[in-house]
Amino acid sequence: MTTTTQTDFFTVARERHSVKSYDPTHKLSEQEVRDLVAVANLAPSAWNLQHWQFVAIHDQAAKEKLLPIAYGQKQIVESSVVFAVLGDLEANRNAETVYGGAIAAGAMSEEIKQTLVGQINSAYAHVPTLARDEAIRNASLAAMQLMLAARASGLDSCPIGGYDAAKFVEAFQVPDRYIPIMLITVGKALNPARPSSRLPVEDKIVWNGF
Ligand SMILES: Cc1cc2nc3c(=O)[nH]c(=O)nc-3n(C[C@H](O)[C@H](O)[C@H](O)COP(=O)(O)O)c2cc1C
Repeated sequence: MTTTTQTDFFTVARERHSVKSYDPTHKLSEQEVRDLVAVANLAPSAWNLQHWQFVAIHDQAAKEKLLPIAYGQKQIVESSVVFAVLGDLEANRNAETVYGGAIAAGAMSEEIKQTLVGQINSAYAHVPTLARDEAIRNASLAAMQLMLAARASGLDSCPIGGYDAAKFVEAFQVPDRYIPIMLITVGKALNPARPSSRLPVEDKIVWNGF
């Protein structure tokens, strides 16, 4: 990573801002990209199904291809890497592998595995909104963790919803299994982010129900 300084979580959370202007000469190695995804991959997920997939758009040519799809936002080509965060509509298919690992580690019995796999496959088969809801909910947690990992590594980021998801799917040949959640640019800020404010905390808490 760019810096080895350890920063506490509260500083990381306070200092993460959506940066829109990056140093175009700053590069991230594939290993540095992998390190960010490895931290994002530690996010929690329902049934531990890990409903996320990251497309690392790292080559300049791939960023140029993405630029018009993201309505010409310059941060796409100036950042060091753009992640397309995808949600997995068939994350139930991960259950065997995930729980197989838990069994091998002695953390789960075969009986519990079978019960869980049965519950998961039944939910995916019978609740029509579940696959999409879970894909969006869980992949978004990993997306946030990626942005915090970037800041903790001395990097900056910006989540992007302003892009044509259908065109992205076509241009980057995204299989039907996945849905686009957001893009995230990551790099070294050239200019600081525009200041942003938050509504008062008391406006965001309702105690013990509405
Ligand atoms: C889902 C989502 C979509 C966003 N889309 C864009 C975008 O398309 N372009 C952009 O420049 N910023 C985008 N942003 C960044 C927001 O403008 C930014 O998070 C917000 O203004 C608060 O600023 P802060 O992140 O610096 O605290 C998006 C943020 C989120 C969470």
